Formats: sequence, C-alpha cells, structure tokens
Amino acid sequence: MNAFAYRDGHYYAEDVAVRHIADAVGTPFYCYSRAAIEDRYDAFADALKDFNALICYAVKANSNQALITLLAARGAGADVVSEGEMRRALAAGIPASKIVYSGVAKTVREIEFALQQDIRQFNVESEQELEVISAVAVRLGKTAHIAFRINPDVDAGTHEKISTGKSENKFGIAIDIAKEAYDKARTLPGIEVCGVDLHIGSQIMNLKPFAAAFSRIAELTQQLRDAGHTISTIDLGGGLGVNYDQQNDKAPNADDYTRIVMETVGHLDCDIIVEPGRSLVGNAGVLVSSVIYTKTNGSTKFLIIDAAMNDFLRPSMYNAYHTIVGGRQNNAPEELYDIVGPVCETGDTFARKRKLPAQEAGDLIVIEGTGAYGSVMASTYNTRPLIPEVLVDGDEFRVIRRRPDYDSMIALDIPWGAAD
Ligand code: LLP
Repeated sequence: MNAFAYRDGHYYAEDVAVRHIADAVGTPFYCYSRAAIEDRYDAFADALKDFNALICYAVKANSNQALITLLAARGAGADVVSEGEMRRALAAGIPASKIVYSGVAKTVREIEFALQQDIRQFNVESEQELEVISAVAVRLGKTAHIAFRINPDVDAGTHEKISTGKSENKFGIAIDIAKEAYDKARTLPGIEVCGVDLHIGSQIMNLKPFAAAFSRIAELTQQLRDAGHTISTIDLGGGLGVNYDQQNDKAPNADDYTRIVMETVGHLDCDIIVEPGRSLVGNAGVLVSSVIYTKTNGSTKFLIIDAAMNDFLRPSMYNAYHTIVGGRQNNAPEELYDIVGPVCETGDTFARKRKLPAQEAGDLIVIEGTGAYGSVMASTYNTRPLIPEVLVDGDEFRVIRRRPDYDSMIALDIPWGAAD
C-alpha cells in the first residue's frame, strides 16, 4: 500500500489532504499513517510466522506513545536502549516480558530499573557490564536473563556512522572471545544465559551481510551448546533498509529477509527475536513544511523552507537522500533547487540540485521517508520548538505530540541571580 500519494493534484496522507492538516496545525509537522505502520508490522509478522518469533520494535526509531501503542496492540515487544525508552515502552502498554534491553553501556540505575520490571532479556555488551548486572541482580534478589551481543566482524555495507558489526566498532563482544564470556557468565550469581544477540547496522539494502553475520552466529550457537550452554533464543537485531529514493532504491522486503533467517539459523530450533525500527515506521511518515522564501544566489536557486536540520537531521548528518515533493502537483516548468532550512549553518540543507516544478512562498514541501529517526533526533537548536506529530487514520487525523510554546522552553533555564 502507498499511504502517501497525490489525489486530484493534492498530496494526501491516507484520506486526508496534508494541506488540510497544515491549515489546522501549522507547518512544519511530522505526519504518520496508521495503516502504513500496521501494514508493515503485519507483513513482518506474517513473514516470520513459521518461527516462534517476537518482533521487538526498536523504539529509538520513533518513540511517540501513539505509535508504540499501535504496535503493542498488535503484539509487538520492544527493543530499548535506555531507561527512558523502557519507560516509554511500558507506558505504551508493552509488557516487560516482551522488552529486550540493548544499549552499549547500561548504568547501575538503569539495570536496577530493568530488573525491577522483570524484563525479558538483557543484551550484554561487555564483561564489565555483565559483572555489574550480576551484582545488582544479587542485591535485588532477581535473576537477569542475558544474551551477549556478539560482534561478528561483518561489514554491513551501509553508511559508516550506522555500521555496528565490524571489529573496530564499539558494539558487542568479539566473536572469538565469546565462548570465554559465556563460560564466565555461567559462574556468576543472578545471571541466567538464554541466548545470543547481534545487530550489525542500519539501513542495510543488501542481504549478504545479514547472511554472513547470521551464519557466524549459528556456528557460535552450536559451539556454545556443545560446551553445555543453554542457547534457546537468537536475537538478530534490526537493520533492514527502506527505499528513501522512491524512484531508484530497491530495499529487500520482510519475506526476503526471513528466507535468510531460515537458511542460516532455522535448523537450530531457537526462539527468534528481531528488532526492526526503520523498516516498520520509516516509510510510514513524512515531514510537511512550507516554503518561506525563494531566492537565487549566483546560479543556485534556493527553496528556503520552515523545517530545518534541527527538525530532521538525516540529510545533514549522513548526507541521506530523501525523496522531496511539492504539496500539490503543478505544471510549472521544473527548476533545480537547493532545498534548505532557516538555521544558521550551511549544513542545514535537505537536498542539492533537486528537480521540482517551480514553487512559491507558501507552497507545501513534503520530505518523504521520515517516520524513522526523524522526530526522535530533533533538537531545539536556534531555539526552534520541537515540531508537532500528527497521526492519520483513514479520513481523520490527530495531533500525537503538541508543539511546545516558547515560554515553556525558556522556563527550563534558571536565570542567573534567580532566588535559590
Ligand atoms: N537494534 C539495535 C541494537 C540498534 O542499535 C538499532 C539501531 C536497531 C535495533 C534498529 O535498527 P533499524 O531496524 O532501525 O535499522 N540514526 C540513524 C540510525 C541509527 C540506528 C541505530 N541503531 C539513521 O537515521 O539512519
């Protein structure tokens, strides 16, 4: 399904024209489609139906309560990387028994909170972390169910800033010392080993790195079992890419991915956990913005829009390409635009030399594929308020995060000289 499309020349989210939302809410705003999110989840669940599988939505991709609630209602668990994300998942109705806790360096406070909730699994990133989990578990009289996050030394073939499975990356423990780590875990009180875990990176468009990494994890599972360890769960992480360039990208789908899972770890008869983030919500959201001004400097034509790098960071941070379209189809001659925001940095650029029909001040500009790693990575740089989020369901829409006002932003500061 395509939840976002032109109808009668106007850009629609499901059955609502984004112009209608823009008039009610003001731009810029994020706009999500309920049907698109539910469809992606159902496709993933269907692809995995031959496994005893739990889909733990990677909350970091988009942690709005409304979205997590929709996924919780469909049976999703959550992959979280902080106490804050764990609290968001619990508040949205995901039971602790479906929460896996990843995260590079969990603090004592976070570990205490997770143990008190009786979460399903800790994905442990180092031997030091394991020792702390053991000590806290003993103190609280709890048992921590753990998997080690294994670094399989596989190149995910994605942007270097979102590659996590090479030996030089900070993530996980090296596969060649994994057995020692498991042997140690067996000796520690308060720890019960239940599985293995990996996550090699994000926005992965080619299945080969998954196949290589999953095969290594399958071999390791066999070795660990031979050494007497109980490995009943394999957590395969997230990472499945999505089409950002709607014309040219060809992301693998959940069925292609699951075929690889079956071929590599299917014979081990383990419970499977997957942690998709982007592939569930990435293309279920768009960023709607308005043209403030147009101008020409030298030979460059600029569209200056009211969204900026603080609202959506991916183009500045990863040079990410996102399809950008006008809010209405018009027959004006095409122009080559640099599409930029109003923030005082040259890096505040969404696209260079992008072909669009001529646009004018007040026209809507839609940046597609912004449902994942959009709102969650926003900041208030230049004292710009975080932008609202809207969820469309059929012919209705609802604001699912309000735009904060300036007073509440400024009131977080304590003026020098204020009474103690
Ligand atoms: N599991 C773990 C342990 C992760 O670290 C991540 C993402 C996921 C699952 C979900 O991966 P996904 O299915 O969404 O690819 N801000 C970057 C992406 C960072 C991803 C970090 N980890 C971006 O905008 O591309």
